[in-house]
Amino acid sequence: MRFDILTIFPEFFSSPLDEGIIRRARQDGMVEVAVTNIRDFALDRHAMTDDRPFGGGEGMVMKPEPLAAAIESARGKNPRARVVLLSPQGKKFDQSEAAGFADLDGLIMICGRYEGIDERIIDRYVDLELSIGDYVLTGGELAALVVVDAVTRLIPGVLGCSDSASCDTFSRNLLKHPQYTRPRDFEGDTVPEVLLSGDHDAIARWRFIASVRRTIARRPDLISGARFSGAEIKILQAEGLWSEIERIRGKSGGGG
Ligand code: ADE
Repeated sequence: MRFDILTIFPEFFSSPLDEGIIRRARQDGMVEVAVTNIRDFALDRHAMTDDRPFGGGEGMVMKPEPLAAAIESARGKNPRARVVLLSPQGKKFDQSEAAGFADLDGLIMICGRYEGIDERIIDRYVDLELSIGDYVLTGGELAALVVVDAVTRLIPGVLGCSDSASCDTFSRNLLKHPQYTRPRDFEGDTVPEVLLSGDHDAIARWRFIASVRRTIARRPDLISGARFSGAEIKILQAEGLWSEIERIRGKSGGGG
């Protein structure tokens, strides 16, 4: 997978892409990340990448010519890539979008700044406008990093344990259960006894119930999308949680 990031702040990316799992995935050749300075494609001697909006109004708009040239150049190196614009006007990025991206050969991500980019670039080149949440950042750079991070860890072989991504919070629409490590007793707060029992079935059951309880309490909106096996439904019924789930689903109109 190759990511091409087009930005007027290339330095933004140097440290985050050089740490942890992303660094290792790049070193191992599982992902390639190329950062391009849009300013390098500016036409005038001041290397202008923005200009005032036609029709007046506050702020500046990113000019089409440098963006078009930067996108064409990235396409030359990443010919099968989808072109994504990071902007608060976009479709909300989520785990299923990340999983879809992880199957692609490449992504070209345009980091918008100021009041946005010239609409003709969106019409001509952009396959998808993407937002990472309902808040406004100073630009698309942080959003592009979020996409690189969330997608890279889903590429097979990137995470050490092959199934840790499939156990993720959002792959099942359930939040993760609480985790504990040594010491057993931290200033009087002890670890749940079952986790020390060595009984793998009991531990799996405890984690599943904890995960469902947490999801009901914190993110009931996710429950409608969660699917449970017959055995899991029996556990939830025994714990008195199934009626709660049905109540939430009834309210939200979700089923299954
Ligand atoms: N640029 C500014 N805010 C953004 C957001 N929420 N998501 C993606 N790009 C952005």
